Amino acid sequence: MSDAEAQKKAAGEAAAALVESGMVVGLGTGSTAAWFVRALAARKLDIVGVPTSQATGELAASLGIRIAELGETSQIDLTVDGADEIGPGLSLIKGGGAALLREKLVWEASKRCVVIADAAKQVPTLGKYPLPIEVVTFGHQTTALRICDALAECDVGVAPRLRVRDGQPVRTDEGNLIYDAACGRIEEPAALAAALKSVTGVVDHGLFLDLADRALIGGPGGVTTLEP
Ligand code: A5P
Repeated sequence: MSDAEAQKKAAGEAAAALVESGMVVGLGTGSTAAWFVRALAARKLDIVGVPTSQATGELAASLGIRIAELGETSQIDLTVDGADEIGPGLSLIKGGGAALLREKLVWEASKRCVVIADAAKQVPTLGKYPLPIEVVTFGHQTTALRICDALAECDVGVAPRLRVRDGQPVRTDEGNLIYDAACGRIEEPAALAAALKSVTGVVDHGLFLDLADRALIGGPGGVTTLEP
């Protein structure tokens, strides 16, 4: 196992230790969240999991975790999820796995959110990782031009690129498309988040601001806890 993978695993296991029987738990998406789901399943607690993607739902069910959809349970007690970048104040970029919309819906419905990651995800300024932006299919090329304008308003001079895999546009679990904007540096994440949300056709973006209550970061010397 690589060092990064071992750090993700350690962070996932530390997060699983926060879960108690009786909780409703939001289950994140991605390779780090998968370590959390495995560690959680191994504890055999009486919990209900609310997955943030079809892939996570399938993993959790295969490991014997009882799952429910968002809205089918009482409020979510704790959500644990990975991130692509963790910046100042636990501002995050998420959506590298195209699950950002369901993730944000689950995060916003949770009493507490814990982000888990390997040490390489921590950055002084967000933006090196391309920012995922989820858009509806209809007129997406036109929406991309409006996104360009919104980015320019925030002094980010890049054109977002449609995410393609194996020659086909990537579809989210909601059937939408993803554009990735290689911003470089995001100096004003809140302003950029507002500008992107104001574009008709944009469903959501991967900036998660003021949502994480704690970060558990795996590193060479063990797991470090950060708070905003
Ligand atoms: C899924 O859409 C993402 O938000 C993931 O949580 C994020 O990309 C982190 O993934 P890894 O844990 O695989 O790095």
